[in-house]
Amino acid sequence: MQNIFAIKIMFKKATIITYGCQMNVNDSAKVKKILENNNYEIVNDINNSNLIIINTCTVREGAAEKVYGKLGELKHLKLRKKNLIIGVIGCLAQEKKDEIYKKVRHVDFVLGNQNIGKIPQLLETIENEDVKHINYTYDEDKLPDKVYADFDSKITAYISITYGCNNFCTYCIVPYVRGRERSVPINEVIDEINHYLDKGYKEIYLLGQNVNSYGKGLDENVNFTDLLKEICKIDKKFRLRFMSPHPRDFTDELIEVIKNEDKICKNIHLPIQAGSTDVLKMMNRGYTKEEYLYLIEKIKNKIPDISLSTDIIVGFPNETDNNFNDTFDVVEQVEFDNSYMFMYSKRQGTPAATMDGQIDESEKKARLQKLIDLQAKKSKLQNEKYIGKIVEVLVEGPTPKNPENYSGRTDENKIVILKSDQKNVGEFVKVKIYDAKTWTLYGKII
Ligand code: SAH
Ligand code: SF4
Ligand code: F3S
Repeated sequence: MQNIFAIKIMFKKATIITYGCQMNVNDSAKVKKILENNNYEIVNDINNSNLIIINTCTVREGAAEKVYGKLGELKHLKLRKKNLIIGVIGCLAQEKKDEIYKKVRHVDFVLGNQNIGKIPQLLETIENEDVKHINYTYDEDKLPDKVYADFDSKITAYISITYGCNNFCTYCIVPYVRGRERSVPINEVIDEINHYLDKGYKEIYLLGQNVNSYGKGLDENVNFTDLLKEICKIDKKFRLRFMSPHPRDFTDELIEVIKNEDKICKNIHLPIQAGSTDVLKMMNRGYTKEEYLYLIEKIKNKIPDISLSTDIIVGFPNETDNNFNDTFDVVEQVEFDNSYMFMYSKRQGTPAATMDGQIDESEKKARLQKLIDLQAKKSKLQNEKYIGKIVEVLVEGPTPKNPENYSGRTDENKIVILKSDQKNVGEFVKVKIYDAKTWTLYGKII
Protein backbone atom coordinates (compact mmCIF):
# COMPACT_ATOMS: atom_id res chain seq x y z
CA MET A 1 0.00 0.00 0.00
CA GLN A 2 1.23 3.45 -0.81
CA ASN A 3 0.84 6.44 1.43
CA ILE A 4 0.53 9.75 -0.26
CA PHE A 5 1.19 12.76 1.90
CA ALA A 6 -0.11 15.98 0.54
CA ILE A 7 1.67 18.96 1.97
CA LYS A 8 -0.39 22.04 1.67
CA ILE A 9 1.23 25.36 2.50
CA MET A 10 -1.37 27.86 3.65
CA PHE A 11 -0.56 31.25 2.25
CA LYS A 12 -2.05 34.24 3.94
CA LYS A 13 -3.56 36.79 1.64
CA ALA A 14 -2.66 40.47 1.36
CA THR A 15 -4.03 43.38 -0.65
CA ILE A 16 -2.07 46.55 -1.30
CA ILE A 17 -3.95 49.69 -2.32
CA THR A 18 -1.73 52.38 -3.81
CA TYR A 19 -2.34 56.13 -4.12
CA GLY A 20 0.07 58.81 -5.34
CA CYS A 21 3.00 59.03 -7.68
CA GLN A 22 5.35 56.57 -9.30
CA MET A 23 7.53 56.54 -6.18
CA ASN A 24 4.61 54.98 -4.33
CA VAL A 25 3.91 52.51 -7.12
CA ASN A 26 7.56 51.57 -6.84
CA ASP A 27 7.40 51.19 -3.06
CA SER A 28 4.23 49.08 -3.35
CA ALA A 29 6.03 46.74 -5.75
CA LYS A 30 8.75 46.34 -3.11
CA VAL A 31 6.21 45.73 -0.35
CA LYS A 32 4.58 43.01 -2.50
CA LYS A 33 7.96 41.32 -2.88
CA ILE A 34 8.64 41.52 0.86
CA LEU A 35 5.24 39.98 1.62
CA GLU A 36 5.63 37.22 -0.97
CA ASN A 37 8.97 36.35 0.63
CA ASN A 38 7.05 36.01 3.90
CA ASN A 39 4.46 33.55 2.60
CA TYR A 40 1.76 36.01 1.66
CA GLU A 41 -0.18 35.70 -1.57
CA ILE A 42 -1.04 39.07 -3.11
CA VAL A 43 -4.72 39.32 -4.06
CA ASN A 44 -6.99 42.13 -5.24
CA ASP A 45 -10.01 41.25 -3.14
CA ILE A 46 -10.11 43.01 0.24
CA ASN A 47 -12.90 40.71 1.47
CA ASN A 48 -10.59 37.78 1.02
CA SER A 49 -7.51 39.30 2.70
CA ASN A 50 -5.81 38.82 6.06
CA LEU A 51 -3.79 41.99 5.56
CA ILE A 52 -4.66 45.26 3.83
CA ILE A 53 -1.96 47.86 3.30
CA ILE A 54 -2.79 51.34 2.04
CA ASN A 55 0.12 53.19 0.46
CA THR A 56 -0.76 56.86 0.75
CA CYS A 57 -0.15 60.27 -0.77
CA THR A 58 -0.56 63.72 0.78
CA VAL A 59 0.65 66.01 -1.98
CA ARG A 60 -2.76 67.71 -2.17
CA GLU A 61 -5.71 67.78 0.23
CA GLY A 62 -7.76 65.61 -2.13
CA ALA A 63 -5.13 62.87 -2.03
CA ALA A 64 -5.24 62.73 1.78
CA GLU A 65 -9.06 62.77 1.80
CA LYS A 66 -9.17 59.77 -0.54
CA VAL A 67 -7.08 57.79 1.94
CA TYR A 68 -9.31 58.64 4.90
CA GLY A 69 -12.35 57.75 2.76
CA LYS A 70 -10.90 54.33 1.95
CA LEU A 71 -9.97 53.74 5.60
CA GLY A 72 -13.55 54.62 6.59
CA GLU A 73 -14.85 51.99 4.16
CA LEU A 74 -12.67 49.35 5.82
CA LYS A 75 -14.15 49.86 9.28
CA HIS A 76 -17.01 47.40 8.74
CA LEU A 77 -14.69 44.77 7.37
CA LYS A 78 -12.47 45.08 10.42
CA LEU A 79 -15.50 44.72 12.70
CA ARG A 80 -16.50 41.52 10.88
CA LYS A 81 -13.00 40.05 10.68
CA LYS A 82 -11.28 40.49 14.01
CA ASN A 83 -7.92 39.13 12.77
CA LEU A 84 -7.71 41.40 9.76
CA ILE A 85 -4.60 43.61 9.92
CA ILE A 86 -4.80 47.09 8.40
CA GLY A 87 -1.65 49.13 7.80
CA VAL A 88 -1.02 52.63 6.47
CA ILE A 89 2.28 53.35 4.73
CA GLY A 90 3.58 56.12 2.44
CA CYS A 91 3.60 59.89 2.60
CA LEU A 92 0.43 60.50 4.65
CA ALA A 93 1.70 57.95 7.18
CA GLN A 94 5.03 59.77 7.28
CA GLU A 95 3.30 63.14 7.71
CA LYS A 96 0.72 62.22 10.34
CA LYS A 97 2.57 59.41 12.14
CA ASP A 98 0.58 58.13 15.15
CA GLU A 99 -1.92 60.98 14.72
CA ILE A 100 -3.58 58.64 12.18
CA TYR A 101 -4.88 56.60 15.15
CA LYS A 102 -6.78 59.59 16.51
CA LYS A 103 -8.86 59.68 13.34
CA VAL A 104 -8.91 55.98 12.50
CA ARG A 105 -8.88 53.60 15.47
CA HIS A 106 -9.09 50.44 13.37
CA VAL A 107 -5.65 50.91 11.81
CA ASP A 108 -3.06 48.49 13.26
CA PHE A 109 0.18 49.99 12.02
CA VAL A 110 1.61 53.17 10.55
CA LEU A 111 4.86 52.82 8.67
CA GLY A 112 7.03 55.61 7.23
CA ASN A 113 8.58 55.77 3.77
CA GLN A 114 11.92 54.57 5.05
CA ASN A 115 10.64 51.67 7.10
CA ILE A 116 9.02 49.23 4.67
CA GLY A 117 11.85 46.76 5.32
CA LYS A 118 10.43 46.42 8.85
CA ILE A 119 7.16 44.85 7.64
CA PRO A 120 7.98 41.18 8.51
CA GLN A 121 9.13 42.12 12.02
CA LEU A 122 6.08 44.30 12.51
CA LEU A 123 3.61 41.62 11.38
CA GLU A 124 5.23 39.14 13.73
CA THR A 125 4.84 41.56 16.63
CA ILE A 126 1.17 42.16 15.82
CA GLU A 127 0.43 38.45 15.46
CA ASN A 128 2.34 37.23 18.52
CA GLU A 129 2.00 40.02 21.02
CA ASP A 130 -1.08 41.79 22.12
CA VAL A 131 -0.09 45.22 20.77
CA LYS A 132 -2.27 47.78 19.14
CA HIS A 133 -1.17 50.70 17.02
CA ILE A 134 2.44 50.29 16.01
CA ASN A 135 4.23 53.33 14.62
CA TYR A 136 7.56 53.12 12.75
CA THR A 137 8.24 56.43 11.04
CA TYR A 138 11.91 57.23 11.44
CA ASP A 139 15.26 57.15 9.55
CA GLU A 140 13.94 59.41 6.80
CA ASP A 141 17.40 60.44 5.56
CA LYS A 142 18.92 57.00 5.00
CA LEU A 143 18.95 55.05 1.74
CA PRO A 144 16.29 52.32 1.90
CA ASP A 145 17.14 48.63 1.99
CA LYS A 146 17.54 47.19 -1.49
CA VAL A 147 14.58 45.09 -2.66
CA TYR A 148 14.31 43.80 -6.23
CA ALA A 149 10.63 44.10 -7.06
CA ASP A 150 8.64 42.67 -9.94
CA PHE A 151 6.67 45.22 -11.87
CA ASP A 152 3.21 44.25 -13.10
CA SER A 153 3.94 45.03 -16.73
CA LYS A 154 7.21 43.01 -16.81
CA ILE A 155 8.20 45.56 -19.47
CA THR A 156 9.08 48.76 -17.59
CA ALA A 157 11.28 48.72 -14.50
CA TYR A 158 11.25 51.80 -12.24
CA ILE A 159 14.49 52.57 -10.45
CA SER A 160 14.91 55.28 -7.82
CA ILE A 161 18.22 57.04 -8.33
CA THR A 162 17.57 59.71 -5.71
CA TYR A 163 15.36 59.80 -2.64
CA GLY A 164 13.99 62.90 -0.93
CA CYS A 165 14.25 66.52 -1.95
CA ASN A 166 16.15 69.62 -0.80
CA ASN A 167 14.31 72.18 -2.88
CA PHE A 168 11.55 73.19 -0.51
CA CYS A 169 9.27 74.73 -3.12
CA THR A 170 7.00 76.73 -0.84
CA TYR A 171 3.79 74.83 -1.72
CA CYS A 172 5.21 71.33 -1.46
CA ILE A 173 5.09 68.77 1.34
CA VAL A 174 7.35 66.20 -0.33
CA PRO A 175 10.63 67.33 1.34
CA TYR A 176 8.92 66.95 4.73
CA VAL A 177 7.73 63.40 4.07
CA ARG A 178 10.51 62.00 1.89
CA GLY A 179 13.48 63.45 3.79
CA ARG A 180 16.69 65.06 2.48
CA GLU A 181 17.97 64.32 -0.98
CA ARG A 182 20.35 61.36 -1.23
CA SER A 183 21.65 59.51 -4.30
CA VAL A 184 22.12 55.83 -4.97
CA PRO A 185 25.78 55.05 -5.91
CA ILE A 186 26.27 54.66 -9.67
CA ASN A 187 27.41 51.01 -9.50
CA GLU A 188 24.26 50.08 -7.55
CA VAL A 189 22.06 51.75 -10.16
CA ILE A 190 23.87 49.90 -12.96
CA ASP A 191 23.56 46.56 -11.10
CA GLU A 192 19.85 47.12 -10.63
CA ILE A 193 19.35 47.98 -14.30
CA ASN A 194 21.29 44.88 -15.38
CA HIS A 195 19.13 42.78 -13.08
CA TYR A 196 15.94 43.96 -14.79
CA LEU A 197 17.35 43.80 -18.32
CA ASP A 198 18.48 40.23 -17.66
CA LYS A 199 14.91 39.44 -16.61
CA GLY A 200 13.69 40.73 -19.99
CA TYR A 201 12.51 44.24 -19.11
CA LYS A 202 12.63 46.59 -22.12
CA GLU A 203 12.34 50.02 -20.55
CA ILE A 204 14.15 51.57 -17.60
CA TYR A 205 12.53 54.52 -15.85
CA LEU A 206 14.80 56.48 -13.51
CA LEU A 207 12.95 58.16 -10.66
CA GLY A 208 13.73 61.03 -8.32
CA GLN A 209 12.13 64.25 -7.13
CA ASN A 210 14.91 66.15 -8.90
CA VAL A 211 16.81 63.59 -10.98
CA ASN A 212 19.24 66.03 -12.53
CA SER A 213 20.76 66.98 -9.20
CA TYR A 214 21.87 63.33 -8.93
CA GLY A 215 25.27 62.74 -7.36
CA LYS A 216 25.33 65.19 -4.47
CA GLY A 217 26.78 63.62 -1.33
CA LEU A 218 28.24 60.56 -3.08
CA ASP A 219 31.90 59.61 -2.52
CA GLU A 220 32.55 59.60 -6.27
CA ASN A 221 32.37 62.83 -8.24
CA VAL A 222 29.51 62.04 -10.64
CA ASN A 223 26.51 63.91 -11.94
CA PHE A 224 23.29 62.97 -13.76
CA THR A 225 24.84 63.06 -17.23
CA ASP A 226 27.68 60.76 -16.10
CA LEU A 227 25.04 58.33 -14.86
CA LEU A 228 23.06 58.48 -18.12
CA LYS A 229 26.19 57.92 -20.22
CA GLU A 230 27.22 54.96 -18.07
CA ILE A 231 23.74 53.39 -18.39
CA CYS A 232 23.76 53.85 -22.17
CA LYS A 233 26.98 51.82 -22.40
CA ILE A 234 25.00 48.69 -21.43
CA ASP A 235 25.03 46.66 -24.62
CA LYS A 236 21.36 45.68 -24.95
CA LYS A 237 18.32 47.19 -26.66
CA PHE A 238 16.23 49.12 -24.17
CA ARG A 239 14.62 52.50 -23.65
CA LEU A 240 15.73 54.90 -20.94
CA ARG A 241 13.38 57.47 -19.39
CA PHE A 242 13.62 59.69 -16.32
CA MET A 243 11.32 61.80 -14.15
CA SER A 244 11.43 64.57 -13.01
CA PRO A 245 14.26 66.90 -13.92
CA HIS A 246 14.26 70.43 -12.48
CA PRO A 247 14.58 73.33 -14.95
CA ARG A 248 17.19 75.03 -12.76
CA ASP A 249 19.56 72.04 -12.97
CA PHE A 250 19.06 71.35 -16.70
CA THR A 251 22.55 71.82 -18.14
CA ASP A 252 23.64 72.14 -21.78
CA GLU A 253 25.61 68.95 -21.25
CA LEU A 254 22.37 67.14 -20.36
CA ILE A 255 20.71 68.37 -23.57
CA GLU A 256 23.73 67.05 -25.54
CA VAL A 257 23.52 63.63 -23.89
CA ILE A 258 19.78 63.29 -24.55
CA LYS A 259 20.39 64.26 -28.16
CA ASN A 260 23.34 61.91 -28.71
CA GLU A 261 22.23 58.76 -26.91
CA ASP A 262 19.73 56.71 -28.92
CA LYS A 263 18.58 54.80 -25.83
CA ILE A 264 17.38 57.99 -24.09
CA CYS A 265 13.79 58.68 -25.11
CA LYS A 266 13.10 61.96 -26.82
CA ASN A 267 10.59 63.05 -24.23
CA ILE A 268 11.24 65.42 -21.36
CA HIS A 269 8.88 66.07 -18.47
CA LEU A 270 9.97 69.50 -17.29
CA PRO A 271 7.70 70.90 -14.55
CA ILE A 272 7.26 74.66 -14.85
CA GLN A 273 4.64 75.07 -12.04
CA ALA A 274 3.84 78.69 -13.02
CA GLY A 275 4.54 81.01 -15.93
CA SER A 276 4.87 84.21 -13.96
CA THR A 277 8.32 85.16 -12.67
CA ASP A 278 6.72 86.77 -9.59
CA VAL A 279 4.85 83.57 -8.71
CA LEU A 280 7.91 81.42 -9.45
CA LYS A 281 9.81 83.55 -6.97
CA MET A 282 7.13 83.11 -4.31
CA MET A 283 7.25 79.36 -5.04
CA ASN A 284 11.06 79.31 -4.58
CA ARG A 285 11.55 77.60 -7.94
CA GLY A 286 14.88 79.25 -8.80
CA TYR A 287 14.18 80.36 -12.41
CA THR A 288 12.25 83.04 -14.27
CA LYS A 289 9.68 82.74 -17.07
CA GLU A 290 12.33 83.91 -19.54
CA GLU A 291 14.91 81.42 -18.32
CA TYR A 292 12.42 78.57 -18.67
CA LEU A 293 11.45 79.66 -22.20
CA TYR A 294 15.13 80.02 -23.16
CA LEU A 295 15.81 76.50 -21.89
CA ILE A 296 12.91 75.13 -23.96
CA GLU A 297 14.22 76.98 -27.03
CA LYS A 298 17.68 75.45 -26.56
CA ILE A 299 16.19 71.97 -26.17
CA LYS A 300 14.00 72.33 -29.27
CA ASN A 301 16.89 73.70 -31.34
CA LYS A 302 19.17 70.81 -30.42
CA ILE A 303 16.51 68.06 -30.49
CA PRO A 304 13.79 69.06 -32.97
CA ASP A 305 11.74 65.87 -32.53
CA ILE A 306 11.55 66.22 -28.73
CA SER A 307 8.17 65.89 -27.00
CA LEU A 308 7.60 67.92 -23.85
CA SER A 309 5.30 67.70 -20.87
CA THR A 310 5.00 69.67 -17.67
CA ASP A 311 3.32 70.16 -14.27
CA ILE A 312 1.43 73.37 -13.55
CA ILE A 313 -0.21 74.75 -10.41
CA VAL A 314 -2.91 77.42 -10.73
CA GLY A 315 -4.15 79.66 -7.94
CA PHE A 316 -0.98 79.86 -5.86
CA PRO A 317 -1.46 82.55 -3.14
CA ASN A 318 -1.46 86.07 -4.62
CA GLU A 319 -1.56 84.83 -8.22
CA THR A 320 -3.21 87.70 -10.12
CA ASP A 321 -5.06 87.47 -13.44
CA ASN A 322 -1.93 88.84 -15.09
CA ASN A 323 0.24 86.24 -13.38
CA PHE A 324 -2.11 83.52 -14.59
CA ASN A 325 -1.97 84.96 -18.12
CA ASP A 326 1.80 84.37 -18.02
CA THR A 327 1.14 80.66 -17.39
CA PHE A 328 -1.40 80.64 -20.22
CA ASP A 329 1.15 82.35 -22.44
CA VAL A 330 3.84 79.75 -21.71
CA VAL A 331 1.45 76.88 -22.54
CA GLU A 332 0.54 78.74 -25.73
CA GLN A 333 4.19 79.26 -26.72
CA VAL A 334 5.87 76.02 -25.67
CA GLU A 335 3.28 73.65 -27.14
CA PHE A 336 3.64 70.91 -24.54
CA ASP A 337 2.44 67.52 -25.68
CA ASN A 338 0.84 67.06 -22.29
CA SER A 339 0.45 68.96 -19.00
CA TYR A 340 -0.51 67.77 -15.53
CA MET A 341 -2.46 70.70 -14.10
CA PHE A 342 -3.47 71.19 -10.48
CA MET A 343 -5.28 73.74 -8.34
CA TYR A 344 -3.05 74.94 -5.52
CA SER A 345 -3.82 73.02 -2.33
CA LYS A 346 -2.73 74.18 1.13
CA ARG A 347 -0.36 71.77 2.87
CA GLN A 348 0.06 72.24 6.58
CA GLY A 349 3.62 73.12 7.57
CA THR A 350 4.63 74.51 4.16
CA PRO A 351 5.34 78.27 3.86
CA ALA A 352 2.62 78.90 1.23
CA ALA A 353 -0.13 77.53 3.49
CA THR A 354 0.10 80.57 5.76
CA MET A 355 0.67 83.21 3.06
CA ASP A 356 -1.87 86.01 2.78
CA GLY A 357 -3.76 86.25 -0.49
CA GLN A 358 -5.15 82.71 -0.76
CA ILE A 359 -7.25 82.43 -3.92
CA ASP A 360 -10.95 81.42 -3.96
CA GLU A 361 -11.66 77.85 -5.01
CA SER A 362 -14.06 79.07 -7.73
CA GLU A 363 -11.35 81.27 -9.23
CA LYS A 364 -8.85 78.41 -9.12
CA LYS A 365 -11.37 76.18 -10.90
CA ALA A 366 -11.98 78.75 -13.63
CA ARG A 367 -8.24 79.18 -14.24
CA LEU A 368 -7.69 75.45 -14.31
CA GLN A 369 -10.47 74.93 -16.85
CA LYS A 370 -9.06 77.61 -19.16
CA LEU A 371 -5.70 75.91 -19.08
CA ILE A 372 -7.13 72.42 -19.57
CA ASP A 373 -9.01 73.64 -22.66
CA LEU A 374 -5.88 75.22 -24.11
CA GLN A 375 -3.75 72.14 -23.41
CA ALA A 376 -6.33 69.83 -24.99
CA LYS A 377 -6.16 71.90 -28.19
CA LYS A 378 -2.36 71.82 -28.16
CA SER A 379 -2.19 68.09 -27.45
CA LYS A 380 -4.48 67.35 -30.39
CA LEU A 381 -2.41 69.52 -32.73
CA GLN A 382 0.81 67.89 -31.56
CA ASN A 383 -0.67 64.41 -32.06
CA GLU A 384 -1.98 65.23 -35.53
CA LYS A 385 1.61 65.81 -36.64
CA TYR A 386 2.14 62.05 -36.33
CA ILE A 387 -0.51 61.03 -38.89
CA GLY A 388 1.16 59.18 -41.78
CA LYS A 389 4.44 58.72 -39.88
CA ILE A 390 6.10 55.40 -39.10
CA VAL A 391 7.13 55.13 -35.45
CA GLU A 392 8.66 52.51 -33.18
CA VAL A 393 6.25 51.30 -30.49
CA LEU A 394 6.98 49.21 -27.43
CA VAL A 395 3.80 47.12 -27.03
CA GLU A 396 2.48 47.10 -23.46
CA GLY A 397 -0.68 44.95 -23.57
CA PRO A 398 -4.48 45.14 -23.84
CA THR A 399 -6.10 48.53 -23.27
CA PRO A 400 -8.13 48.77 -20.02
CA LYS A 401 -11.30 49.89 -21.86
CA ASN A 402 -11.28 47.30 -24.61
CA PRO A 403 -9.13 44.19 -24.10
CA GLU A 404 -9.48 43.42 -27.82
CA ASN A 405 -7.25 46.39 -28.54
CA TYR A 406 -3.59 46.52 -27.66
CA SER A 407 -1.57 49.61 -26.92
CA GLY A 408 2.00 50.74 -26.54
CA ARG A 409 4.15 53.84 -26.46
CA THR A 410 6.40 55.65 -28.87
CA ASP A 411 9.83 56.88 -27.92
CA GLU A 412 8.19 60.30 -27.35
CA ASN A 413 5.84 58.69 -24.80
CA LYS A 414 2.74 58.88 -27.00
CA ILE A 415 0.16 56.18 -26.38
CA VAL A 416 -0.70 54.29 -29.58
CA ILE A 417 -3.74 52.03 -29.91
CA LEU A 418 -2.77 49.22 -32.24
CA LYS A 419 -5.01 47.70 -34.82
CA SER A 420 -3.48 44.35 -35.57
CA ASP A 421 -4.00 40.63 -35.13
CA GLN A 422 -0.44 40.30 -33.94
CA LYS A 423 -0.05 41.10 -30.26
CA ASN A 424 3.74 41.42 -29.85
CA VAL A 425 3.57 42.32 -26.13
CA GLY A 426 6.96 43.46 -24.84
CA GLU A 427 8.35 43.87 -28.36
CA PHE A 428 9.43 46.87 -30.35
CA VAL A 429 7.35 47.08 -33.53
CA LYS A 430 7.15 49.49 -36.45
CA VAL A 431 3.77 51.17 -36.62
CA LYS A 432 2.13 53.44 -39.20
CA ILE A 433 -0.03 56.11 -37.55
CA TYR A 434 -3.39 56.62 -39.32
CA ASP A 435 -5.36 58.71 -36.80
CA ALA A 436 -4.81 61.03 -33.84
CA LYS A 437 -7.07 62.08 -30.97
CA THR A 438 -6.25 64.44 -28.09
CA TRP A 439 -4.56 61.85 -25.86
CA THR A 440 -3.91 58.89 -28.18
CA LEU A 441 -2.62 57.92 -31.58
CA TYR A 442 -3.99 55.04 -33.66
CA GLY A 443 -1.68 52.87 -35.71
CA LYS A 444 -1.21 49.64 -37.63
CA ILE A 445 1.78 47.37 -37.16
CA ILE A 446 3.67 47.11 -40.47
N1 SAH B 1 9.44 66.46 -7.67
C1 SAH B 1 8.58 66.67 -8.73
C2 SAH B 1 7.10 66.62 -8.44
C3 SAH B 1 6.59 66.29 -7.12
S1 SAH B 1 4.92 66.43 -6.74
C4 SAH B 1 8.91 67.99 -9.30
O1 SAH B 1 9.38 68.87 -8.64
O2 SAH B 1 8.66 68.14 -10.45
C5 SAH B 1 4.07 66.37 -8.28
C6 SAH B 1 3.39 67.64 -8.65
O3 SAH B 1 2.36 67.95 -7.73
C7 SAH B 1 4.27 68.88 -8.63
O4 SAH B 1 5.04 69.00 -9.78
C8 SAH B 1 3.25 69.99 -8.49
O5 SAH B 1 2.82 70.43 -9.75
C9 SAH B 1 2.10 69.33 -7.77
N2 SAH B 1 1.97 69.83 -6.40
C10 SAH B 1 2.86 69.71 -5.39
N3 SAH B 1 2.39 70.33 -4.27
C11 SAH B 1 1.19 70.86 -4.59
C12 SAH B 1 0.21 71.62 -3.87
N4 SAH B 1 0.39 71.98 -2.61
N5 SAH B 1 -0.92 71.98 -4.52
C13 SAH B 1 -1.12 71.62 -5.81
N6 SAH B 1 -0.24 70.91 -6.53
C14 SAH B 1 0.91 70.53 -5.94
FE1 SF4 C 1 8.31 69.35 -4.23
FE2 SF4 C 1 9.76 71.18 -5.40
FE3 SF4 C 1 10.93 69.02 -4.38
FE4 SF4 C 1 9.42 68.76 -6.56
S1 SF4 C 1 11.34 69.95 -6.42
S2 SF4 C 1 9.39 67.48 -4.74
S3 SF4 C 1 7.85 70.30 -6.21
S4 SF4 C 1 9.90 70.63 -3.24
FE1 F3S D 1 4.46 61.00 -4.35
FE2 F3S D 1 2.33 61.86 -3.10
FE3 F3S D 1 4.45 61.23 -1.73
S1 F3S D 1 3.09 62.62 -5.00
S2 F3S D 1 6.19 61.59 -3.06
S3 F3S D 1 3.19 59.85 -2.97
S4 F3S D 1 3.12 62.93 -1.32
